[in-house]
Amino acid sequence: MEVLTRDFFLFLSKNKVLNRAAQNWGKNIASGKIIGGNDFTSSIKFIKMLNSQGLSVTVDHLGEFVTNKDVARERTEECIQTIKMIARENLDSQVSLKMTSLGLDIDHALVYENMSRILETAEKHNIMVTIDMEDEQRCQATLDIFKDLRKRFQNVSTVIQAYLYRTEKDIEDLNQYSPFLRLVKGAYKESPEVAFPEKKDVDENYKKIIKMHLLNGHYTAIASHDDAMIEYTKQFALDHNIPKDQFEFQMLYGMRSQTQLDLVKQGYKMRVYVPYGQDWYGYFMRRLAERPSNIAFAFKGMTKK
Ligand code: FDA
Repeated sequence: MEVLTRDFFLFLSKNKVLNRAAQNWGKNIASGKIIGGNDFTSSIKFIKMLNSQGLSVTVDHLGEFVTNKDVARERTEECIQTIKMIARENLDSQVSLKMTSLGLDIDHALVYENMSRILETAEKHNIMVTIDMEDEQRCQATLDIFKDLRKRFQNVSTVIQAYLYRTEKDIEDLNQYSPFLRLVKGAYKESPEVAFPEKKDVDENYKKIIKMHLLNGHYTAIASHDDAMIEYTKQFALDHNIPKDQFEFQMLYGMRSQTQLDLVKQGYKMRVYVPYGQDWYGYFMRRLAERPSNIAFAFKGMTKK
């Protein structure tokens, strides 16, 4: 039953008609609860509130699967404006983005050009930009572009998903780039040909890549709400004398807020992923797929201004 629900929401997350419709009728959905707001300006107050509690942030302008060059350039410009506002408002925030919103499905040269413009602005303001990892079909292209960008920029990072069989090899291959990596379990619907179908295998692989990347000596973001993974990381770091400034925990805005604060109190760096924008549909459906009990939480949010 749990698998059926997950598959159902992941199927819905890719539905383009529903996605377009949702932009019209869902403008206030969960605003301030699981997304920052319809635009960056309305998210600033939430980011300041998180910062005042000792939480760092990464903001993500919601949007994916752009198929028009002009829209991809518009998204690039919006991202650049967001970076400038982060600097102007002196926010403790990085930026996350999806390369399909910058033209990954149109032309790799275009996405490289758009990413370069974003990274040049971010570099001026000392802001890190993380390329979210999308579905497996786009993994190789994402990593290839990341590697090219990494040769020119220090302030770019990406995401590695524990559910893919290829992941261990990717961590080994990326080692030479000394990357800052966000490690996640993986949020898309993938076939058993490319990804572990069983959650216990994903969890095991997740621990394995946390261990590999930390021992490689590179900065690691453990992006998970799972206590077992958080405890594993803490213990592993203690046992291997890995300093607290070599890793951070990351969670999504609105999820496990008390745990986030507890980690800060214990002296760990904690970063909250705050999405904003009107294109909330795919993000929202993937969150429902991960944890159907988020349904009640989100619907409560719908009535809230
Ligand atoms: P998982 O879903 O495996 O749940 C394990 C246990 O954790 C649960 O049984 C429960 O005990 C606890 N738990 C989970 N959610 C909870 C909640 N809301 N409240 C209370 N307890 C909870 N994916 C991707 O493919 N590409 C990407 O770029 C990213 N980026 C990203 C950034 C950040 C900051 C985060 C936190 C996550 C992502 N993800 C992602 C999503 C990721 O791949 C994954 O789908 C989700 O984090 C869910 O997996 P978890 O490890 O959090 O717990």
